[in-house]
Amino acid sequence: MKTIAFYNLKGGVGKTSAAVNCAWLAAASGLRTLFWDLDPQGAGGWYLAPQATGSGEIKKILRGKVPVGHLVRRTPYEKLDLIPSDLAYRNLDVAIKRHADGDQTLARLISPFGEDYSLVVLDCPPSLSELARQVFAATDAVLVPLIPSSLSVRSFDQVRSFMKDRGLGHKQLYPFFCQVDRRRRLHRTLRDQPPVSLKRLLTAEIPYAAIVERMGEQMQPLPAFAPHAPVTRDYAALWSEIEKKVKIS
Ligand SMILES: Nc1ncnc2c1ncn2[C@@H]1O[C@H](COP(=O)(O)OP(=O)(O)O)[C@@H](O)[C@H]1O
Ligand SMILES: [Mg+2]
Repeated sequence: MKTIAFYNLKGGVGKTSAAVNCAWLAAASGLRTLFWDLDPQGAGGWYLAPQATGSGEIKKILRGKVPVGHLVRRTPYEKLDLIPSDLAYRNLDVAIKRHADGDQTLARLISPFGEDYSLVVLDCPPSLSELARQVFAATDAVLVPLIPSSLSVRSFDQVRSFMKDRGLGHKQLYPFFCQVDRRRRLHRTLRDQPPVSLKRLLTAEIPYAAIVERMGEQMQPLPAFAPHAPVTRDYAALWSEIEKKVKIS
């Protein structure tokens, strides 16, 4: 089993859209996939299974009183399951801190899923917190969507130093450009001559495309309702590159 996270210090960059679409594509390719929505806003769960509700049991699970499998819900898609966001997540940071056995609390929660799943996808809230530290320690790769701008490069550098300073594997960070608008000069420049600090920048990029926003009204992943849209192909190329880099099989 491999665990990947979609993470950025910033909100609104395209983490959830990419996480949901990649999870759907992974499941459609035959990988048993679990999507864990760690963001209290719950957008990822909403796209995958709008009716699914959280169990509210996270604290009992952290105390070892309830098995983590209780959190899992079905989605309408074959081989794709979901752990919905939970209002209790507002306190997940605090709860994890209280029950933390070092960096590995989240990793320990995820490990039993190895029996049933080939891939776990974590959709993260935008913050550099205890939860982020746990996410970095639990994952094989952290995918970081960046809207091309000097500020986003700077926030990537901040994440990189955060991980480095804490002895976490900053080598597992993979940035990729998202919401790229080729008509904008700065987007073209950053895409064509990316700063050297963007190490392991993925080749695949996601353009700005209004149809991505329709995931909200459709309440479905993009490839499920628009399999032939050009941007669906871009998500497929992104997923295929991640699959190769992270050696997911
Ligand atoms: N490639 C894209 N093109 C156009 N809109 C996008 C794209 N990716 C995401 N969006 C829109 O931007 C907003 C934030 O995206 P989301 O994936 O929720 O970001 P995050 O999880 O980083 O907050 C949403 O309204 C989403 O529909
Ligand atoms: Mg999100």
